[in-house]
Amino acid sequence: MPATLTINGYRIVVSSAESLFAAAERAGVRVPTSCVTQGKCKECVVEVTRGRDLLSPPTESERHLDVRGGPFRLSCQARIVVEDGEVECQTMRRGRMRIERAALHLPATHQTTTLDPAVARDGERIVDRMNGETIDRSVGPVHGLAIDLGTTTIVVRLLDLETGGLVAETSFENPQRFGGSDVMSRIHYDTLHPGRLLMRTVAGYLSHAIAELPVDPRSIYDVVLVGNSTMRDLFFRQSVYSIGQNPYRSITEIEMAEGKRTTTSLTTTGRRSLLPIHPHARVYSLPIISGHVGADAAACLLAVNLAHEDRLVAVMDIGTNTELIVGNRHRILAASCPAGPAFEGGAIACGMPGLEGAIEDVTLDDDGTFRLGVIGGGKPEGICGSGLVDLLSELLRTARMNAMGRFSDEVDRITLDTEHGMYFLERDVNELAQAKGANVAGLQVVFSQYGIQFDDLSVFYLAGGFGRHLKRGASKRIGLIPNLADDKIVQVGNAALEGATIALVSLAKRQEIESLAKRIEHCRLETHPRFFDFFVDGCQFRPIESGVRVSE
Ligand code: FES
Repeated sequence: MPATLTINGYRIVVSSAESLFAAAERAGVRVPTSCVTQGKCKECVVEVTRGRDLLSPPTESERHLDVRGGPFRLSCQARIVVEDGEVECQTMRRGRMRIERAALHLPATHQTTTLDPAVARDGERIVDRMNGETIDRSVGPVHGLAIDLGTTTIVVRLLDLETGGLVAETSFENPQRFGGSDVMSRIHYDTLHPGRLLMRTVAGYLSHAIAELPVDPRSIYDVVLVGNSTMRDLFFRQSVYSIGQNPYRSITEIEMAEGKRTTTSLTTTGRRSLLPIHPHARVYSLPIISGHVGADAAACLLAVNLAHEDRLVAVMDIGTNTELIVGNRHRILAASCPAGPAFEGGAIACGMPGLEGAIEDVTLDDDGTFRLGVIGGGKPEGICGSGLVDLLSELLRTARMNAMGRFSDEVDRITLDTEHGMYFLERDVNELAQAKGANVAGLQVVFSQYGIQFDDLSVFYLAGGFGRHLKRGASKRIGLIPNLADDKIVQVGNAALEGATIALVSLAKRQEIESLAKRIEHCRLETHPRFFDFFVDGCQFRPIESGVRVSE
């Protein structure tokens, strides 16, 4: 039987010693490349999920992937070297992944913001209004990009800066995944591998995405990019080493404290960014707030209009690193909680990200039968974060699990779907308990430092893709979010992208967030004397009521 390759679900018979790249092309799967398979651009990376040992040994060009035993290969270098057998792999995902692009129920949007971009036309000149310099002479259109550079996903939005209108939007998985799935792994990777490989890989993918936009890329004169401190600094070629070391500060924060710069925002040119936009374009990133609370959190603040907010509000973006901001225009506190990947499906036996095939809804009937809702409606392949929250909530509601996370009847495994091998372990509950404990400890520390209780909040914004798909009742029952009235909890989706878009269309808003970011107090959770108590308490699955609720 001849060897076969299944790539992104397309199956093809491969000829002897054919590269994965060549076979993928024959199968009609486009693999990103800028070096025509020379092993130089590093963009053609694939994740091999089956048959790794049927491939040729790694080449010198793949040293950066640490391929021994790892799932990633450069498809232009890896060849199937056996006569029969099956190899399965996938490129970085586009489209199939559920990526949160929309923002909902926000007090401010780019449509409601007065059009006043930092780069604008003056007759035939395209002018950078920040420094008065002429970027170009053209009578053609003036475009700008808002980019949300997430650890897992990247979303790009193209706007006409003369009308403020949205022209196009695209999204894809962050190709830096070969450097690890969380920011700490990427920092470690970047520190160990010279050559800015992470930056160059993401710039390569962004370049392909920009080339596919329905406009001349050289008509893009302004870019506003947001991301957590690590993603942002990697893109701007900053050393990220210090973000990974206690006290976890970006090099821009350190330089600002030393009086070497006046802002933690960063600016470069189109040419230096390696993007195929106008070479003199302005590429700007919002300031970071502090530590791991990055430019994406700053962008959220623009979208919730915090600089003009009199009511007490909280913004929580739950993820591997949960960001938390509480306050109003008078005083703002921010913190980041190292929750880990459990609520994104990592470290869970049947966990998976929010992709097609993930269980996202769980209902437990009286007779003990599980009813499962699957993204895309097909057969279940795993459980994503919102499914896990539902599952915990249902187990609690039916007393099949207690508040300590112990299953009843002395079992250590609960089967959800026998046919498709879906199950949930007591060990998984422990992982989720610890992730929840970190988030709750963050909430308790920030609120106690602010001197307020949860009931004092007027609005609790849940930002980000995970927050968007959570069920409020289930989240409150397991104590992932405070036990507030439903009408106070607002799920806003990708507020960071909306904030970046607001900064793209408004120079005034850019200036507003520059000054607001300097006024935010950073709450260092690890140094708070009651952090550990809060954490232990937060590991329990019960509603978080107002007031500090820690056993003395
Ligand atoms: S195509 Fe450029 S490294 Fe493989």
